[in-house]
Amino acid sequence: MKLKLAILPGDGIGPEIIDQAMKVVKVVAAKFNHELEYEFALTGACAIDELGAPYPDSTHELCMNADAVLFGAIGDPKYDNNPKAPVRPEQGLLLMRKKLGLYANIRPVVTFPSLLHKSPLRRELIEGADFVAIRELTGGIYFGEKGRKDNGNTAFDVCEYTRMEVERILKLGYEYAMKRNKKLTVVDKANVLESSRLWREVAQEMAPTYPEVTTEYMFVDNAAMQIIQWPKNFDVMVTENMFGDILTDEASVITGSLGLSPSASIGIHTSVFEPIHGSYPQAAGKNIANPVATILSAAMMFEYAFNLMEEGAIIRKAVDASLDAKVVTVDISTEKPYSTSEVGDWIAEWVAKN
Ligand code: IPM
Ligand code: MN
Repeated sequence: MKLKLAILPGDGIGPEIIDQAMKVVKVVAAKFNHELEYEFALTGACAIDELGAPYPDSTHELCMNADAVLFGAIGDPKYDNNPKAPVRPEQGLLLMRKKLGLYANIRPVVTFPSLLHKSPLRRELIEGADFVAIRELTGGIYFGEKGRKDNGNTAFDVCEYTRMEVERILKLGYEYAMKRNKKLTVVDKANVLESSRLWREVAQEMAPTYPEVTTEYMFVDNAAMQIIQWPKNFDVMVTENMFGDILTDEASVITGSLGLSPSASIGIHTSVFEPIHGSYPQAAGKNIANPVATILSAAMMFEYAFNLMEEGAIIRKAVDASLDAKVVTVDISTEKPYSTSEVGDWIAEWVAKN
């Protein structure tokens, strides 16, 4: 099969972790006889510095013509404490989501048996926890009208959803639930927000068309609590953009390290695969960042963008083996930490040999 990829390393540790993921992608492609074609492009702060825009047209062109996009991370501290910066790296991410139509962000929350001790939660709470959070990614308050009035002294951000947007993401949620344990939790704030009431209305209309799936409705504040109190309660969770942003960060730490969590953003034009952690500028260039989340994002890419399940599975096995062998970066083990590139090499070699 021909695999045409756009590679966007981004800022901070982005280039280092993407290097490791690409080592693994190349080995997998060779092993399974796929023809790999890929090209790099700039996004984020580095794109602002070089081309004056965080998601340049040339980068968008490349993504539009690719079967899948592998993305590192963006963000640079020089923009963080400057609310008046005219252009920010994060705008690149939002623009990419909108222009590629990346409407669904899928974040699996799974525990690794060898890392249960790293979780902030007690072992018995998380052992066997396994759920998928699906976040709507191109609507809601992120993309609604925003502005100032009253001479700049009042600010607003509108949260708006259309029926089509809600149906589209719920459909994806139901399809997931059908393939998993047949439970869908719709997270909203329907006791307060009109947009949430539309979500709930649409979900109630759709639920009977998926009779095998149990639909559960949960307010977002309660969901935030349930994620740490009883994570095993969840199978597939679907929610709107900002609730999903917050809940998925919360969910990602219960598994032990932010450095292990991958994500897929499913789009209309193409799909993007990226670690859920940020650009970690303090670690940039030091060869210490954990490349596993990006390597697992590459596994998701094989599975979701190309339906190549065996290819994804061997990457997952290699990652499990690396964790079991304690070939891990300093965020996992301070005793005998391996470097970013050593972990990448080890996983790529494991794939080649097995
Ligand atoms: C994420 C990030 C982004 C978001 C930021 C960087 C704009 O936190 O991907 O979750 O809020 O969506
Ligand atoms: Mn976030």
